[in-house]
Amino acid sequence: MNTPKRYTITTALPYTNGPIHIGHLAGVYVPADIYARYLRLTGNDVALIGGSDEHGVPITIKAKKEGVTPQDIVDKYHAIIKKSFEDFGISYDNYSRTTANIHHETASEFFKTLYDKGEFIEEVTEQLYDEEANQFLADRFVIGTCPKCGNEESYGDQCENCGTSHNATDLINPKSALTGNTPTLKETKHWFLPLDKHEAFLKEWILKGHKKDWKPNVYGQVKSWIDDGLRPRAVTRDLDWGIPVPVEGGEGKVLYVWFDAPIGYISSTKEWAQREGKDWEPYWKDKDTKLVHFIGKDNIVFHCIIFPAMLKAEGSYILPDNVPANEFLNLEGNKLSTSKNWAVWLHEYLEEFPGQQDVLRYVLNASAPETKDNDFTWKDFQARNNNELVAIFGNFINRVVVLTNKYYEGVVPQPAEFSEVDDETLATVKAYPDVIASSIERYRFREAGQELMNLARLGNKYLADAEPWKEIKVDEERTKTIMFVALQIASALATLSEPFLPFTSKKLKGILLYTENSWNDISTKDILIPANHQIGKAELLFSKIEDEAIQKQLDKLEASKKANEAANKKIEPQKDTITFDDFIKLDIRVGTILEAEKMPKAKKLLVLKVDTGIDVRTIVSGIAESFTPEEVVGKKVTVLVNLAPRALRGVDSEGMILMTETAEGKLVFVNPDDSNVANGLHVS
Ligand code: MF3
Ligand code: ZN
Repeated sequence: MNTPKRYTITTALPYTNGPIHIGHLAGVYVPADIYARYLRLTGNDVALIGGSDEHGVPITIKAKKEGVTPQDIVDKYHAIIKKSFEDFGISYDNYSRTTANIHHETASEFFKTLYDKGEFIEEVTEQLYDEEANQFLADRFVIGTCPKCGNEESYGDQCENCGTSHNATDLINPKSALTGNTPTLKETKHWFLPLDKHEAFLKEWILKGHKKDWKPNVYGQVKSWIDDGLRPRAVTRDLDWGIPVPVEGGEGKVLYVWFDAPIGYISSTKEWAQREGKDWEPYWKDKDTKLVHFIGKDNIVFHCIIFPAMLKAEGSYILPDNVPANEFLNLEGNKLSTSKNWAVWLHEYLEEFPGQQDVLRYVLNASAPETKDNDFTWKDFQARNNNELVAIFGNFINRVVVLTNKYYEGVVPQPAEFSEVDDETLATVKAYPDVIASSIERYRFREAGQELMNLARLGNKYLADAEPWKEIKVDEERTKTIMFVALQIASALATLSEPFLPFTSKKLKGILLYTENSWNDISTKDILIPANHQIGKAELLFSKIEDEAIQKQLDKLEASKKANEAANKKIEPQKDTITFDDFIKLDIRVGTILEAEKMPKAKKLLVLKVDTGIDVRTIVSGIAESFTPEEVVGKKVTVLVNLAPRALRGVDSEGMILMTETAEGKLVFVNPDDSNVANGLHVS
C-alpha cells in the first residue's frame, strides 16, 4: 500500500458477560489506543472502532443462572464496559453494541448477500442435542475432549488449551453444559461457509501478510490452521438469542455469534458516520484504507481466516492489512479468570486509583504480552510508578517547572550560546518522534513506551549534569541556556507522551500553557517553547504509590483465592436416606459439661463429666487439640445419650457430644445457644 489515505482500527468487541480487566486492556485496548492517538497526532484520518459483543451462548447461560433475560445481562455489562473505557481514555470514535438495530440490519444484509450469491452450502446434518433441555447444543453449551490436544474441558467451538477452533461434533466424549447429559444426535438444517473454497486465496493472502511482517505468533497459528486443511463452517445456530437467520427456512435459528460479531465493526463504523455526517464506505471499501484489527490470541483464526473469507465472499470489502494479536497477560502468576474473579477489574481500578489512569496504561504497556505471555504483579506496578513515572518523568518536569518559576517567575528565559552538550541534546530530542514512530508503526508499543521514558531520562540526566541550581550562583547567562534547553525537552514530552499518557500530556500542556506542537514539529522546529513565554505553576504529574495501597490489592486477590477454594471445596456427599423410625432411635439431650480433665498420655482426649438432665455421666471426647479443659467447663452441649458405652483407654465413655468442624479445621460445639434451655431436654 502507498501511504494510506485513512485508517480503520478495530478492537475486539468484548463479550458483555463480565466487566473489562487488565488482560483485555494490555492485549487489545491499550495498544489500539496508542496506535490511534499516534496516527491522529501525525495528521491521519482515523476511525477507532469498538463495541460490545452481546450475542453468543455464555450470555444466555449467565442469564439463565441469574434468572434474568439475556438483554438484562448485556445492558448491565455494556453500560459498565462503555463507561470504564471512556473514563480510562480509550479514544473511540464510536463504541456500539451488537444488539443495536443498525447492527442487526447490517449483519442480516451481509448474510443475505452471501446467500444470494450462493456463497453458502445449505445442509441438513446431525447436531448434538440435549433431550432433557430440549435444545440443540453448540459452542459453549458442550464440553468435551479436544481432538487435537486431549484437553478434557474443551468447549464445543474452541479449546482454550491449544486454541484450536472446532465444530461441537468434533469433541470426543461430549457432555451438555446444561444438564451434564451425553447429547444425542438430531438432524437440523444449517448454512455453512465453505472455507475450503477460499483456501487458495487465504494461502496467498497470508503469505503476503507474512511478507509484511505479521507477528510470528499470528502467522504461525494461521499457517497451521491452513495446513490442517480448511472445512466448511456452520454460520447459523439453533438458538433463540441472536440475529434471526433472514432467509427461508431460517425460522427459529440465529446467526453464529462469530459470524455477526466482526460485522459489528462495520455497523459501528456506520453508526459513527451517520452521527458525524460522513460516508462510512471508504473506511471499509477503499483500497487506500489501512484496516488493522487489534485482538487477543484466542481470536486469531476468526480475524485471519473466517472474517477475511466472509469479506472476500461478499466481494466489495478490503481485507485487514495487519492483525497484531497479543498473547495473554497473567496476574500474579496465575491465569486471569472472570469466573474465578482472578482479575484487576478496570471499573474498580478507576475507583480505587482515581486520576491514575496513566499509571495503569503505562504499566500495562510496559508489560504487554506482545511476543509471549507475561505477568502483571502489583509490586511491579508500584515499582514502575515510583521508579519511572515519579522518579524520572515526574521529577524532571517538576524540576524544570519549579526552577523556571523560582528563577524567572515562570517566564521562559532567553538562551545565550549553546554548548556542545546543548546542541547534542537538542538534536537527540529531534530524533525521538521518528524513533518512537518507527516502533509504533511496527506494533512494538512496549519499545515505543520505553523510548518515551528514555526521552524523560535524557532530560533528567541533562539537568543533573548541568546543575542549574549551582550554575545560578556563578553564571546567570549559562543558567538561562540550561533552563531553556530543559524547557524544550519538557515541551517535547508534552506532545510525544500523548498516545501513551494522555491524561499526563494534557496536564503537562496545561502547566506549560503551550500546546501548539504537532508530532512532526518536535523534529522540525528549532524552538518548541519560545523565550518570554509564561508558563504556569508546578503541579505533581505522578505521586508515589505506598505499600499499603499495594497490600490492599494483594489482600483483595487473596480473598478471591479463598472464596474460590471454599466454592470448590469437596463437600462429602449426603449419606444414605434413613427412615423416621431410624431417626427417633437417637436420644439426643441438652447437657452441661461439669468437669474436664486431660486423659493421661492421650493427645486428643478429654475426660468429661456431663450433666445430661437424667444423670451425670462420663464421656470421653476427642477434642483436646481444640480446647483446654478450662475452656469447656460450663459449656452447654448436645449429647447423644443412648449410644452403647465404649471403653477408651480404660475409661467407659457413655455417650457422645455433638461437634462440627469449620473450614479451617477447628472443632466447635453444636450447642443450644440459650442458657434457659434446661438440661435433659430432647433434641429433635
Ligand atoms: N467477543 C469476542 C471475545 O471476547 C471477540 C469478538 S471480536 C469480533 O473473544 F470480531 F467478533 F468482534
Ligand atoms: Zn485443544
